[in-house]
Amino acid sequence: MASSAVIDVEYEQPAEGSVCDTRRAWARVPPEPTSTEREALKERIRRLLRERNAVMVSHFYVHPDLQDLAEETGGIVSDSLEMARFGRDHAAGTLVVSGVRFMGETAKILSPEKRVLMPDLDANCSLDLGCPVDEFSAFCDAHPDRTVVVYANTSAAVKAHADWLVTSSCALDVVGALHAQGRKILWGPDRHLGDYIQRQTGADMVSWNGACIVHDEFKALELELLKQAHPRAKVLVHPESSAEVIALADAVGSTSAILNAARQLDATEFIVATDNGMLHKLRTLNPGKTFIEAPTAGNGATCKSCAHCPWMAMNGLADLANALETGAGEIHVDPALGLRARVPIDRMLAFTAGLKNGIAPGSLVAGIGAA
Ligand code: 13P
Ligand code: SF4
Repeated sequence: MASSAVIDVEYEQPAEGSVCDTRRAWARVPPEPTSTEREALKERIRRLLRERNAVMVSHFYVHPDLQDLAEETGGIVSDSLEMARFGRDHAAGTLVVSGVRFMGETAKILSPEKRVLMPDLDANCSLDLGCPVDEFSAFCDAHPDRTVVVYANTSAAVKAHADWLVTSSCALDVVGALHAQGRKILWGPDRHLGDYIQRQTGADMVSWNGACIVHDEFKALELELLKQAHPRAKVLVHPESSAEVIALADAVGSTSAILNAARQLDATEFIVATDNGMLHKLRTLNPGKTFIEAPTAGNGATCKSCAHCPWMAMNGLADLANALETGAGEIHVDPALGLRARVPIDRMLAFTAGLKNGIAPGSLVAGIGAA
């Protein structure tokens, strides 16, 4: 098989004041297997999953092979919130997480007794990279009167500083309920999601200045022109995008919310402003509908004019099979750190389970409680 391509990735790290430094990282993207190699790898993975009492937990942005195989073998493909819940609740002794590192860490924190494997442990996230724990800790220390609400796309060490953890599918509800209780919020690390929550809830928020290199690339002017060319299309946007892009949306939400909107909205044509890994599920679940990628600034790491996370692209069949075979790619989280980081994650899972059962957000945050 051909060798992996190593690509350069630039991301922003907030420095003093509101200025951001540009930092460099890398991603290692495996080659596409031939169809014969693909079938052989899938068969090997099916066998290893059975032999190792393992289950696949895949994100919507990873390669379609890893999404389809997860579902076919009794695993899940979902947003980051459901990945966490599914991994925690599944009886398998080994979880194979295809996504980025924070997703594997969250799975391990919630199930320290399970083995958690990833195809490539170097699969990172610009939000995680751009929010180092020492700087974030100093930010928290500078605002001791605020409730710390942290986005899931962070390291275990940053999560350990949080009162509440959220993903994009529950961030509005959690912050809205905290705001209604009169709490002031310290938010991090995604500035666009933080701004969106602030606009929607009116909460008093100070925010870390991080960004997702994929969603930051969508541009409003070009999106407006694309909308004019497709006047009947509905626009679906992930809230890690800028306020100008969100303003053009018919539906804003997490990857699951985007999938639900595509099913429910009365339209046959959609413009999609999120990672293009999402198109696989959107298209297979909605065969009669058309999905068009939203325009980007043209600086994409994986391909210039498309939106695809270089670290999600690191997940491949060969590395996944190898992880199952050899135990390579096992996630370790320091147990004491894991216990501290688990507190805000458990709060999020209890909150979202309560919402599903019809309990009001206000009584949930009061009942679950956080400093
Ligand atoms: P979701 O929680 O919506 O799946 O998003 C995760 C992510 O990394 C988006 O870029
Ligand atoms: Fe992080 Fe953005 Fe990749 Fe999601 S798409 S994992 S937020 S870099």
